[in-house]
Amino acid sequence: MVALSKQEYYLFQHYIARKCGIKLDDTKAYLVESRLAKLLIDSKCENFSELLLLLETNSDANIEIKVIDAITTNETYWFRDPGSWKIITEEWLPQKITEIKKRKNVKIRVWSAAASTGQEIYSLVILISEYLKNNEISDVSIDDFEFIATDISTHVLTIARRGRYDPITIMRGLKADLRDAYFDRERTAWVLKEEYRKRVRFEQFNLQNSFIFWGKFDLIFCRNVLIYFTDALRSEVFEKAAHVLKPEGFLLIGAAEIYYSMEDYFQKNITSYGTYFKVKEATK
Ligand SMILES: C[S@@+](CC[C@H](N)C(=O)[O-])C[C@H]1O[C@@H](n2cnc3c(N)ncnc32)[C@H](O)[C@@H]1O
Repeated sequence: MVALSKQEYYLFQHYIARKCGIKLDDTKAYLVESRLAKLLIDSKCENFSELLLLLETNSDANIEIKVIDAITTNETYWFRDPGSWKIITEEWLPQKITEIKKRKNVKIRVWSAAASTGQEIYSLVILISEYLKNNEISDVSIDDFEFIATDISTHVLTIARRGRYDPITIMRGLKADLRDAYFDRERTAWVLKEEYRKRVRFEQFNLQNSFIFWGKFDLIFCRNVLIYFTDALRSEVFEKAAHVLKPEGFLLIGAAEIYYSMEDYFQKNITSYGTYFKVKEATK
């Protein structure tokens, strides 16, 4: 394998921070070296300096996309962090159902802001469908919700849009009865049924950009992505999220994440299942 020099790693650290806001500390050189090894071969570069030159000169339009796809950590699974889903079923969803019943024609809007391969937003589509069915709620339907899911990586979005998962991926966090009810089997793979897949709009989006374009949301998932960001970008994301979250909206972050910087914009709501955040009065 071609070795990554200290100087080359330094240049990659800066490149990645600039393009994605991801902070790679000095212990992550091995990660960059191994994740970019295949790309180095595919792009016929002899060493990492040649790859850096390609990035700098923009001579291959796809190279930036490929580097971002290779560097980002896309780990995800169905119904990740049980507490988040309990908060949704016990607190958020009942409130939204009451709201829909009162004011028809208003869509409840959800954003999965670092969607990866789609398990997070599709888990929500499944959860809402199950809730409505199990509670025999017939005057509210999944059509009353709008689902938007974004990620910086185009590769994960392609997988998410297809909704097609291999036998290992489908098992991670998803019960067999839900798998059988919501997915069709295609040889060894499982494909989310079209009627659920079509509910979600997947778009490429960098959290470094302005959020205003997306409109206001009733629920934002920003889970397990902020941990990779620089402190400056993390604070910026909190500020921007506070401006696109409705006054009664919920923000969910990862179960293991704690950021004091979000307290400027959000009020913490601790439940027995976990914590969710609402916009602070002054930010509304
Ligand atoms: C670890 S996954 C989390 C997936 C899901 N939210 C979950 O909790 O299971 C983090 C995702 O954040 C995305 N990401 C990283 N930097 C980003 C940025 N600047 N803008 C948007 N998405 C980003 C990565 O591509 C990756 O798919």
